[in-house]
Parts: sequence; C-alpha cells; structure tokens
Amino acid sequence: MRPGGRAAQAAEPAVRLRSAALAFGARTLWSGLDLDIRPGEFFAVLGPNGSGKTSFLKALLGVVPLSEGTAEVAGRAPGRAGEEIGYIPQQKSFAPDTPLRARDLVALGVDGHRWGVRLHRRAVDARVEDLLARVGASDYAKVPVGQLSGGEQQRLRVAQAIAGHPKVLLCDEPLLSLDLGHQQAVSGLIDRQRREEGSAVVFVTHEINPILDYVDRVLYLADGRFRVGTPEEVMTTSVLSELYGSPVEVSQVHGRIVVVGLPDATTHAHRGAHHHEEDTP
Ligand SMILES: Nc1ncnc2c1ncn2[C@@H]1O[C@H](COP(=O)(O)OP(=O)(O)OP(=O)(O)O)[C@@H](O)[C@H]1O
Ligand SMILES: [Mg+2]
Repeated sequence: MRPGGRAAQAAEPAVRLRSAALAFGARTLWSGLDLDIRPGEFFAVLGPNGSGKTSFLKALLGVVPLSEGTAEVAGRAPGRAGEEIGYIPQQKSFAPDTPLRARDLVALGVDGHRWGVRLHRRAVDARVEDLLARVGASDYAKVPVGQLSGGEQQRLRVAQAIAGHPKVLLCDEPLLSLDLGHQQAVSGLIDRQRREEGSAVVFVTHEINPILDYVDRVLYLADGRFRVGTPEEVMTTSVLSELYGSPVEVSQVHGRIVVVGLPDATTHAHRGAHHHEEDTP
C-alpha cells in the first residue's frame, strides 16, 4: 500500500473537485476534472509552462473561480478554507531592504490565528525555534530575509506554510532555486508533514524525480488535456504521447524518469529561464 494510509482512506477528502473546468477567455486549461485528494496524500501536479498548474492551486485557494463545476477544500468552498491551508507561492524574492528577520517571517505563520486563541509568547518562540530547526534555518534566524539567498528564503516559506498545521498544503514549485541537498531536505520535510500531521500535499513541479519516492498520484496537465494516476500509470510513453499529441518517450534510468522528445515550447530545460519574476525585487 502506498503512503497515505488506511485511516486516511476512510476520511473525507481534503480536496474534492467535481466536473471542474478552468478557462481564461476562449482558452480552456482543463475541464471535466473529477478528483478526490485524501488527507495525507502526496499529490503532484506536472505539466509544461502555461498548462495551468499555478491556476489549479489558485482555484483551490479561491483566487480564481472555476468556470464550471465545484471544488471543496477541507470541506469548505475555496476561499473559505483559509486557516486550513498552507501555501508556498511560486517563488518571488523579498526586496533586499525587507525589514523582517527570518524568525519573524516564520512567526507570522505561527502566531495563534487559529480559533481566535493567541498562543503564549513562550509557546510561539518554542514553535518558531522548532520550525526553523526543521528547515535548517536556525543559523540565520536573525538575519533580515532580504539578505538571504533564494534557497534560504525558500526554506523559510516552507516553515511558514506548515506552521499552522494545515489540512491542505499547496506548494508551487517549492524546489526551484534549491541545490540538490536542499531539494531533498525540503521534499523530505513536506513528506514528513503529511505523514505526521496528515496534511494533504498538492505539489506543483516541473521535475518529478526529486519527489519520486514520496508521490502517491500525479495530475499531468498538457494542452488542455490531463491524466490522473500513480507515477507508474501516468509517466509512460503512451500516456504522455497522447497528452502532448506527439511522440514522447519515457524511460527509467537508475530509478529516475527520463522524458525525451517533448515539444520545443514545453521542454523541461527551462528552469529559471522563464521565471522572470524570480529576479525582480
Ligand atoms: N488571471 C488570468 N487571466 C488570464 N489568463 C491567465 C490568468 N492567469 C493565468 N492565465 C493564463 O493561463 C495559463 C496558465 O497559467 P499558469 O500560471 O497556471 O501556468 P503554469 O502551468 O503554472 O506555468 P509555469 O510552469 O510557467 O509556472 C497561462 O497561459 C496564463 O497566461
Ligand atoms: Mg506556475
């Protein structure tokens, strides 16, 4: 049995979509999407640039409305589930002169917004220390966030997003700009969050390999089409060729998934190149 757990199967879904569609003007990103994501499930969203991955998260956040169908997040309408959701947005850097220190940023996620009960100062401090240690950020707890590297900032965002014990953790390319060691640390941390606290994880990524050990199911978006299933079911030559409408070859090399022949505009070799927003303050 894959992670996610037997108990989790019986529970209400953390995310439920029925006949969901999202379109901007004449362009439909996806439609006819029926999906239940279980508590504790590690659910990856893959697809080329512009296929609608970020928009999928925004629909769950209630920031963009579905054009058809319904969505529920933690049993509520999108936009009504605020405190139940942890969100790591697609990366933007903090301006160099941002006056927050690293630990202040994490404390923002902790400071007793739930049930209107404010935690005691000491309890907040202990929780913040624990979160900083978990993401390996203790050493720079007092450094202003604008002075930290992209990867260091990213680890703080993870700490902030898990601080409130979210039922649903939405992550938009959280591994971007991390080196290999920190990619492993951050994905391991997110995996631990769903195992220990049963958070459902929706993890947008261009690269499945760093999370291959953790992923239960994949939603692969391409060209207005999609497929949902286990990585074994979705990451195949026939499924991806059908999604892209052109021959794509998928092979396994040393336990990694290698995809060859993606249409030019959608190659995976663009990390950083299209993320203009990364560099702007
Ligand atoms: N509010 C909006 N109004 C109109 N079009 C939008 C809006 N938001 C997104 N789009 C368009 O929808 C498409 C999907 O955008 P989205 O950001 O979801 O893609 P993505 O899969 O996250 O891509 P990337 O890999 O580059 O992050 C894009 O073509 C984008 O321009
Ligand atoms: Mg995106």
